Amino acid sequence: MKIEKSKYGIFKGNEITAYKLTNDNGMYATFINLGGINTEIVVKDKNGKFVDVALQYKDIDALDENIGNLGAIVARNANRIANALANISGVEYKLVDNNNSNNLHSGPDLFHKKVLDAVTSEGNGEVSVEFSYKFKDMEQGFPGNMDFKIKYTLNNTNELKLRYEAISDKDTIFNPTFHGYFNLAGHDYGTIYSHKIKIHADNYTSVNEVLIPESVDKVRGTVFDFTNFKYMNDGIDDPCEQIKRGKGFDHNFALNDYDGTFKKAVEVVEDNTGIKMDVYTDLPGMQFYAGNALNPKCVGKSGKMYVKRGGFCLESQYFPNAINDGRFISPLLKAGVKKVTNTSYRFSIA
Ligand code: BGC
Repeated sequence: MKIEKSKYGIFKGNEITAYKLTNDNGMYATFINLGGINTEIVVKDKNGKFVDVALQYKDIDALDENIGNLGAIVARNANRIANALANISGVEYKLVDNNNSNNLHSGPDLFHKKVLDAVTSEGNGEVSVEFSYKFKDMEQGFPGNMDFKIKYTLNNTNELKLRYEAISDKDTIFNPTFHGYFNLAGHDYGTIYSHKIKIHADNYTSVNEVLIPESVDKVRGTVFDFTNFKYMNDGIDDPCEQIKRGKGFDHNFALNDYDGTFKKAVEVVEDNTGIKMDVYTDLPGMQFYAGNALNPKCVGKSGKMYVKRGGFCLESQYFPNAINDGRFISPLLKAGVKKVTNTSYRFSIA
């Protein structure tokens, strides 16, 4: 196993470093101290050939706008908050409306543009890089000075683990996610239509016109039924109202048997490479986003442009707008209480 450090580039006058984690199987993944962004995940396919399955831009300047949030960590809050108003312990906080009257991904002061501290570590068959950042009280519109850490670990079972940790001096929201786009046929292969997906969720949150959850509905009998493997494009352009609103799959799945423990949530397999990715999490929800709005204006790292639905995201999370919606498990972080949450992406051959 090894950890290699290299210069990634200059971002607004800051020198950005890349941390490459490699395991004993030759699998590797690279992260930069600009927002902890993931720039590559390279795994072996069924023929022993190495394939990079993570979409990323070629040029560091593209990360200023980072259309689509490629490879990004979203913090403090992932997904949408209705009317850009967050009710935190009885106080209403006005956020920026950056998405059809809602706040999306804590923008526009996005976490992926922040320069982070980094520490690497090695031992027990694992290599890690941990990034940390101190949010200031009211930064992004949220209360609390919050110490936030995101630790990426690679082990020899080809598992990429993400451990998020936070502690704040005021009640606040803590709902981070990983917004990496995957294409298990190769990051610049084209559409994701050769992937089959199985989601361990009998229910999903159906949404209103601006993608705020309305109710928790059964997937059975709908295009959202991924309880058995089906192709990602099966139903993706269905004429039903839910698919029209999401412009394809862009919905939160309510994971089965949530109890806060770490469980398998999603399985994905790609036809050509045979690469399988299993996603585990201790969180209650998973946004399956099929890259419907992916329309990058900048070239990908191979020099090719990525296409609409050229990658998919599996974003573990508390349900969208859960901070305001008493029906859902709350993403509230109480003052002085440390909270940790874990998600992992495990690669194998189907
Ligand atoms: C959301 C999409 C949004 C995308 C932007 C996803 O997490 O679910 O609606 O277009 O992020 O990056």
